[in-house]
Amino acid sequence: MVKTTKKLSTSDPAIQNKPKLSLWNFWVSATLLKLLLIPGYYSTDFDVHRNWLALTNKLPIKQWYFEDTSPWTLDYPPFFAHFEWFLSQFVPRWVQQDGCLDIVETGNFGLPTVMFQRITVIVSELLLFVALQIYINKSSLSERSANFVVASSIVLSPGFLIIDHIHFQYNGFLFSILIAAILAAKHQRYLLCGFFFATALCFKHIFLYLAPSFFAFLLRVYVLDFSNFKFKSYYDLISIVQWKNLFKLAGVVLAVFGVCFAPLISQWSQLLTRLFPFSRGLTHAYWAPNFWALYSLLDKVLTLIILKVPYIHKCLTQIIAPPLIPATIQEIKWKLQQYNVGTKGLVQDVYFVILPQIQPKLTFLLTLFYQVLAIIPVLFSPSFKRFIGSLTLCGFASFLFGWHVHEKAIMLVIIPFSFLVTSDRRLLTPFRLVVSAGYVSLFPLLHESSDFLLKLLYTLVWSIIYFLALRQVTKMSSSVQRRVFFFDRFALFYIIMLVPMVIAVQLLDGLKWRYSILQKFEFAGLMIYSIYCSIGILSSWVGLSWLYNFDEPLWM
Ligand SMILES: *[C@@H]1O[C@H](CO)[C@@H](O)[C@H](O)[C@H]1NC(C)=O
Repeated sequence: MVKTTKKLSTSDPAIQNKPKLSLWNFWVSATLLKLLLIPGYYSTDFDVHRNWLALTNKLPIKQWYFEDTSPWTLDYPPFFAHFEWFLSQFVPRWVQQDGCLDIVETGNFGLPTVMFQRITVIVSELLLFVALQIYINKSSLSERSANFVVASSIVLSPGFLIIDHIHFQYNGFLFSILIAAILAAKHQRYLLCGFFFATALCFKHIFLYLAPSFFAFLLRVYVLDFSNFKFKSYYDLISIVQWKNLFKLAGVVLAVFGVCFAPLISQWSQLLTRLFPFSRGLTHAYWAPNFWALYSLLDKVLTLIILKVPYIHKCLTQIIAPPLIPATIQEIKWKLQQYNVGTKGLVQDVYFVILPQIQPKLTFLLTLFYQVLAIIPVLFSPSFKRFIGSLTLCGFASFLFGWHVHEKAIMLVIIPFSFLVTSDRRLLTPFRLVVSAGYVSLFPLLHESSDFLLKLLYTLVWSIIYFLALRQVTKMSSSVQRRVFFFDRFALFYIIMLVPMVIAVQLLDGLKWRYSILQKFEFAGLMIYSIYCSIGILSSWVGLSWLYNFDEPLWM
């Protein structure tokens, strides 16, 4: 790391002339760490992907989306299924004998399968390094060192380490396609941008959350042309559309979707139910640290207060008509009982006692509303920076207000934000907030106590190094506006307090076997995590939205 900071000092003329900034060293050291993690803890996602490996290998395409021997049915788009099929071609015989390719209800496998699948994650992640190395290679001399810091912060991200190499998924590979789309947009290769983004969607449809931003940006910079526009009649509106570009872009995007979905067109309804399972609850097994976590907290606090002081309930019913809140204390107690029954199993459905239940339609409308707010400025002045800003805000909107959001979706915010943060020092505060709260919110994914030190120390060291390095390479504020000192101080205090929070929850967890009273609060640790992290992520969103909407010069 010392080396990195030396490279950053731009006073050295030898370095300025020939900056040779390579991610190679990072790849070697990160891969060594990942190899050491191979025998460690993995989640049920591991068996999910093993099952997909098996079913794509053993069955014809037409049956992939119908196969349901295992509860972990295929619910990613076809390109990802083909990717699994491709990987399954490389399974050696001794790994097959280990049970890697068996279609069974729950996988029965040993270390060989674990090694094989872990190595596929490490190898496919090479694409992430390649994409980011191209990003560095193609950047101009003035932004080269800043981009190098950004690129290395992504490849060493604790998010990818925790989600991919311990918990088990293929996000490094998937995000490399998204990053390719961002790079193409940066270098004004708009057809390529459309191609990569459509491809990313066909691998994992979670990228749909970012689609409004790509759509608005490509529409404005590639399809519409206002340069010679003078409004005389409605006929002129047709002349602003660059029809040739429109057909080219639509052709590229539709071709990608065609290749992906056409073979399965006859079973489209089955495909849809697999890709969009709307029957799931509002929050995931563990609450993602978003707006709904705070809503749930408010509900819990209100329930407690009302049960302690029934008089408050009387006052409330005077103001709010009963269907909106329970009419009697009995009803509250009854609902509470139902709720407790719910939490005994996996918490799939969150049930609110006092506050109104949340419908999918409402979460959808809220998400869309904030996404539209984020893309309107792109339609007016489509700079690359503004596009990345809107991309980040689209990720935020869906994370904060979406239906059945998973905590891993925070990467959809952090990765686009990384490409923005070095352009102005005032962006650092919201970035630090979302990165630290977002990465800490991933900690409960690894509940083995042996992983505790690893995740805490790795994230802590990463944060210290990159918070300092990013500060060094970040441009001073473009406008002479006063920085919001209160916000900066609050953020610093908040971030530092994450460490005692993590340690306290771990202690609480460790003492559970000793004091049976603590077992009553089994979910308290998770609740503390999601509430504390949601405060940081919401504040980050507010801070970024403020700059995005009220600070014009920053985005030019
Ligand atoms: C980046 O540039 C270096 C030389 O400056 C070259 O060796 C390397 O292959 C390039 N990497 C990519 C991915 O283009």
